[in-house]
Amino acid sequence: MIHAKNLCANIGANQVLRDISLDLAPGEMLAVIGANGAGKTSLLRALSGLLPLESGAITFDGQSTDKVQAHQLARAGLIHVPQGRQIIPGLSVRDNLAIGATNIGLSQSVIAQRMQEQWQRFPVLEKRQKISGSSLSGGEQQMLAIARGLMMQPKVLMLDEPSLGLAPQIVQLIMTTLRGLADQGLAILLVEQVAMLALEYADRALVLRNGACAMQGPAKELLNSRELVNSYLS
Ligand SMILES: Nc1ncnc2c1ncn2[C@@H]1O[C@H](COP(=O)(O)OP(=O)(O)OP(=O)(O)O)[C@@H](O)[C@H]1O
Ligand SMILES: [Mg+2]
Repeated sequence: MIHAKNLCANIGANQVLRDISLDLAPGEMLAVIGANGAGKTSLLRALSGLLPLESGAITFDGQSTDKVQAHQLARAGLIHVPQGRQIIPGLSVRDNLAIGATNIGLSQSVIAQRMQEQWQRFPVLEKRQKISGSSLSGGEQQMLAIARGLMMQPKVLMLDEPSLGLAPQIVQLIMTTLRGLADQGLAILLVEQVAMLALEYADRALVLRNGACAMQGPAKELLNSRELVNSYLS
């Protein structure tokens, strides 16, 4: 679904991505882990067309993303659930859920049908559909951000630190939901600062350090790796 080769990108004079390569197949969950400032968000932004590349190449679903704008990639099924969730405070839960699908011109009946799927996945959102998105708890807002992405029927779902600031029980619910989506064939790229959590659910992982790939491999192997611990501590 995604094939990225030798990505380099800068923010101002700062090189934030250094020669990153990754592949993501349907049904696979790839975790991108790394400390504060390692470049995780920058990598997601580069993949979704929001951060221009200095060099390197990305293909999504077999097509080069060079010169394709972020909103076109989203429409084609590359969905980015951003850090901080970006729920629109003035809109109801229901309208927040529909907004992406409405913007791309889907019919009301298709939107209604896709909404039903999301209500089934996250029943608490159906119960609270009429209240303002900003009145939801942090966990509910994260569910809404994920559900909003799923309304676009993505081929790839990329999430930036979905567990941030949430209670352990909610984190478990969200991770289990994501694992279930991957098992049904969705390609998931999960950015996490909490490495152990991500490795528990992901198939493979890439460890970022100073914008470069410090390690890459099966999640189970990294979970038992002394090198991983060292790369976090050093
Ligand atoms: N808008 C910006 N202007 C200048 N430098 C930035 C900007 N955004 C990020 N950076 C720098 O780019 C590097 C990578 O940041 P990035 O946000 O990608 O890291 P991260 O791994 O997502 O961190 P976090 O865990 O804190 O979210 C850091 O050195 C950061 O200071
Ligand atoms: Mg980040």
